[in-house]
Amino acid sequence: MTCHILVGGFFGDEGKGKIVSYLAIKDKPSVCARAGVGTNAGHTVVYKGKTYKLRQISSGFIQENANILIGPGVLVNPEILKKEAEETGVGERLKIDGQCAIIEEKHIEEDRSSSFLKERIGSTGSGCGPCNVERVMRKVKLAKDIPDLRQYITDVPLEINNAIDRGKYVLVEGTQGTFLSLYHGTYPFVTSKDTTASQACADLGIGPTKVDEVIIVFKSYTTRVGAGHLPGEISEEEAKRRGWFETATVTGRKRRSAPFNFELAKRAVMINGATQAAITKLDVVYPECSGIRSIEKLSEEGRIFIKKIEEAIKIPVSLIGTGPGALDIIDLREEL
Ligand code: GTP
Ligand code: IMP
Ligand code: MG
Repeated sequence: MTCHILVGGFFGDEGKGKIVSYLAIKDKPSVCARAGVGTNAGHTVVYKGKTYKLRQISSGFIQENANILIGPGVLVNPEILKKEAEETGVGERLKIDGQCAIIEEKHIEEDRSSSFLKERIGSTGSGCGPCNVERVMRKVKLAKDIPDLRQYITDVPLEINNAIDRGKYVLVEGTQGTFLSLYHGTYPFVTSKDTTASQACADLGIGPTKVDEVIIVFKSYTTRVGAGHLPGEISEEEAKRRGWFETATVTGRKRRSAPFNFELAKRAVMINGATQAAITKLDVVYPECSGIRSIEKLSEEGRIFIKKIEEAIKIPVSLIGTGPGALDIIDLREEL
């Protein structure tokens, strides 16, 4: 067990935060590193009676022995970073790379005042798109230029590669989902960067030969915030009736929903080179599965659904989410 990467298989909000928090407690990684775009993501961790909504810090922070790193490819908003550092109490375990680009107020204003980004695409308004534009133009400020961030700066690629070389377990948390990728998603209704496992490697400075497992996370139904086609989309009333209706972590917007999409799941497994899958929210589609922690206790319907997914995607389902808490999970990895 050295380096595992976790990514979203649909349109984000698959429940990556919950899966990472479980793995952090169970497998005790030495390093939990956040890859991905930046503060547009909101990952939810429910642990020991508290709920955290994290936009910068890895959901693995609940493992008190893990170093919590943010790679050079990830955009940093210093205010949000400091707020989360306080809320989570990570202290000196939190480090970011000096080459992280900085989201400034002007990026947020541009994101929110652009009718194209805000209205047509339905961006999160977090400034990520305009900040990545400035980065490409080679004018953006980097973390190493901000005196206020000095205490957090480290060489993240070096720390991660040293940990891998010593046989320590490094857990990488991607953000968004495969079909929000700038390259592989439903362009132009996508985010401002690639979001697949290869990009997560690049975000952190990990070479592809160093990765052992790619865990892809799918929710038991699909959801999407912002504009863009969602195959099989159901109405808001129908979503409420089925218990699928959700609101977004960062913006509070309504999430649109549709049934599990086997074709998209197959393609996402291919593009990410995924080796195992985590399925979240089985309890929402099959309420009798709520809180169950062993496969034997799953209802027949729940088991048939998981089997059908495995047959379609041709990789094993290794983890099944049965509730919002970090430990509400069926762990099938021993049987792989
Ligand atoms: P993004 O990177 O923004 O895409 O986020 P994410 O993948 O971490 O998901 P997010 O936290 O935005 O949304 C997932 C929601 O589902 C949260 O409210 C979680 O607490 C909840 N959740 C995750 N897994 C399960 C599960 O197995 N069952 C139930 N009932 N809730 C879950
Ligand atoms: P941006 O990343 O803020 O520019 O938003 C571009 C598109 O990606 C919009 O449709 C957003 O709703 C979507 N998006 C960005 N980040 C997330 C996320 O973490 N979860 C779900 N959707 C996201
Ligand atoms: Mg989210």
